[in-house]
Amino acid sequence: LRGGGNALEAVIAAVMVLEDDALFNAGYGSVLTTAGRVEMDAAVMMARRLRGISGASARVEVRAGGVVLVNRVRNPILLARAVMEHTAHVLMGGAGAHRIARAAGVPLCRPEDLVSLRARQRWKASLVALGAAKAAAHIDGDAHHGTVGAVAVDAQGVVAAATSTGGVTGKRPGRIGDSAIIGAGLFAGGGGAASATGAGEAIIKAALCRDTVMRLGRLSPQVAAARAVARLHQATGAQAGVIVVDRNGRLGYAHNADAMETALFDPAGGIRYLVVPQLKLPRLRAGTGRR
Ligand code: GLY
Repeated sequence: LRGGGNALEAVIAAVMVLEDDALFNAGYGSVLTTAGRVEMDAAVMMARRLRGISGASARVEVRAGGVVLVNRVRNPILLARAVMEHTAHVLMGGAGAHRIARAAGVPLCRPEDLVSLRARQRWKASLVALGAAKAAAHIDGDAHHGTVGAVAVDAQGVVAAATSTGGVTGKRPGRIGDSAIIGAGLFAGGGGAASATGAGEAIIKAALCRDTVMRLGRLSPQVAAARAVARLHQATGAQAGVIVVDRNGRLGYAHNADAMETALFDPAGGIRYLVVPQLKLPRLRAGTGRR
């Protein structure tokens, strides 16, 4: 961004670093399904206000691409970008997505190349602890997460969001989470762009990222993020977090999980690591709001 790069390149570069790091649940090191396999989801979205029109009637050009259930690329976010740039579609899955990878020159790998030692150990531990038949019940507020995402705005005012994940611990084969679902795991619009992490089923129901972005303008990004996470908590009781940037470069981040690792970059401050405290939200009565 310092060198004039665009927001799309910035979010993809950031997410690729995290996908390549086995500490995160995306790309190499993704969590495994109950069948012991990696199935990853990722998406990218960008928005640009068209010149000459301002205010509420401004027209916005949006572009998006995503992939679900992929296991033959080390960087699913590159495949999501290829869907956006090389097809007329927004979301592709499985074998069709892998064919796009071949055609677009996205590097392929073997499914087993994505499995880290830690992921395999966690998978074994979860099967022992829960029993394979009960593993689906583990997909709830306390599941291991670690989805990665990035949001950016560039000098042209283009905003972009990217999200990538291996899903959640104990998921059934074929389960698709929020990360590649536009409006849920990511969203970009005239006001800004957002990316989410946490319990995918709840994030989809709450349309967390669209909810966050639609609050921009009336609210600062920080308040928009906090209100959107509070609404998800109220409706579902699940754990989630969101990062958001508005088109003026103001940032917001909020979560109701145990932790959400966050870092930010701007030309004045450089790269900074942030400790984002958990939102203080009312406890829900037993039996309300789960999932
Ligand atoms: N947020 C990642 C997932 O639920 O798949």
